Amino acid sequence: LVLVVDYGAQYAQLIARRVREARVYSEIVPHTITAEELRARNPKAVILSGGPSSVYAEGAPQVDPALFGTGTPVLGICYGFQAMAAALGGDVARTGRREYGRTPVRVAGTGALLAGLPEELSVWMSHGDAVAAAPGGFGVLAGTADTPVAAFEDPARGLAGVQWHPEVHHSQLGQRVLENFLFDIAKVRPDWTPANIVEDSVAAIREQVGDARVLCALSGGVDSAVAAALVQRAIGDQLTCVFVDHGLLRAGEAEQVERDFVAATGVDLKVSDATDRFLDALAGVSDPETKRKIIGREFIRTFEAAAREVAADGGVDFLVQGTLYPDVVESGGGEGAANIKSHHNVGGLPDDLEFTLIEPLRTLFKDEVRAVGEELGLPPAMVWRQPFPGPGLAIRIVGEVTRDRLELLRAADAIAREELTRAGLDREVWQFPVVLLADVRSVGVQGDGRTYGHPVVLRPVSSEDAMTADWSRLPHELLERISTRITNEVPEVNRVVLDVTSKPPGTIEWE
Ligand code: XMP
Repeated sequence: LVLVVDYGAQYAQLIARRVREARVYSEIVPHTITAEELRARNPKAVILSGGPSSVYAEGAPQVDPALFGTGTPVLGICYGFQAMAAALGGDVARTGRREYGRTPVRVAGTGALLAGLPEELSVWMSHGDAVAAAPGGFGVLAGTADTPVAAFEDPARGLAGVQWHPEVHHSQLGQRVLENFLFDIAKVRPDWTPANIVEDSVAAIREQVGDARVLCALSGGVDSAVAAALVQRAIGDQLTCVFVDHGLLRAGEAEQVERDFVAATGVDLKVSDATDRFLDALAGVSDPETKRKIIGREFIRTFEAAAREVAADGGVDFLVQGTLYPDVVESGGGEGAANIKSHHNVGGLPDDLEFTLIEPLRTLFKDEVRAVGEELGLPPAMVWRQPFPGPGLAIRIVGEVTRDRLELLRAADAIAREELTRAGLDREVWQFPVVLLADVRSVGVQGDGRTYGHPVVLRPVSSEDAMTADWSRLPHELLERISTRITNEVPEVNRVVLDVTSKPPGTIEWE
């Protein structure tokens, strides 16, 4: 275990991810943690993250000097580097000069931390204060034009630090710096592999569940699929999954759940085909928010009915939920297992259907969830599925949702996805909604005849987290192929347009 102490910038999660990429398990803890609490977690190493404060600012988070006398190796990054220097008697000065963005550093002495790095390095900086003098016992390893002490190390105590951000991709050889710290200074072992993650989770789930029965809801997405597959691996027949088919998924997705997922896992699956129910409830509705509310309501009702049936032949105590680590950190519950027992009404299930949650993905980042999915042998199309909204194609039909319109959109969407895959761009593009403007018609010509059909909008976007996004610059030849195929193969569509709006101001979905 490596603990990343969060000093309040957005970098702690990134550091934890990079440590995991080096196959070392890491968790984020708040900076309010005491040296004693930290020691009680028995970490192999500690990393102090960057943060927005100046070490001299009033109320700036402090580092307890007791942290450095325990024999646990510590790496300070940016603010953590300065805080370490200040705590150990070094000199941190307000230089009045800010270094921001790509900055060249000169590597003077490599120590263990910078071993294998070239003499000149381009790194990502973001700081105002700077370390003017390293504390006693530390050797200075690197400097920039404005910052004479940009990296230091005390080999005797296993302490090291860098002013720059090795965790961001703009920092050359950043991963190498982190790995030097982990493997050469802290001597941790890279044993956080998908196979070990599966083994540990299986043991933890068995212990939590005992011989009780467990329910899960599959959505077709990667998180619920991997969570269910892990629980299945752990407790087999004690698990029943419910798949509410609302009829709003894309081509082939329901089959992926009902056929491929079941074949890969052997899970006991109960399919609730609720297409008619959802389409009846959506009849005549065009307003986006009303659509969303109807779908949410019908989903809960359908799931509840299915859950009652499962519970009817013997009680069910647990419900699987695909919560990921970033959600846990962002909701302030970074302390790992602490909240696992909370009772939870999934989106408003009635009180008499109350379950204890099992959240087997609670410590995992998204890329780890995918690696575990591959380890468990899930269908690649599921493991690598791009994000897809719960309300499905209903919010990609601008206008009323009908069976015919769904068919039409499914056909156009399948073509766009197929061509994107064929061009090898699946993992470059975050999401690729295809939107049917069902209430709009335009005049076209095909063969000798006039057409009066509907436009579809292509909305490929790139993003890190869906909070902001940019429109993807897809190659023109690819756009051409998609456009030609859609207008040829889907007769009701006579026009294909491209959405070139970033988010903000546009959202990713049209509704
Ligand atoms: P917007 O359109 O707000 O979408 O830019 C941001 C991300 O969220 C997805 N999305 C949803 N996901 N239920 C979901 O599970 C929803 O109701 C929902 N609405 C939007 C969207 O696909 C994008 O990834």
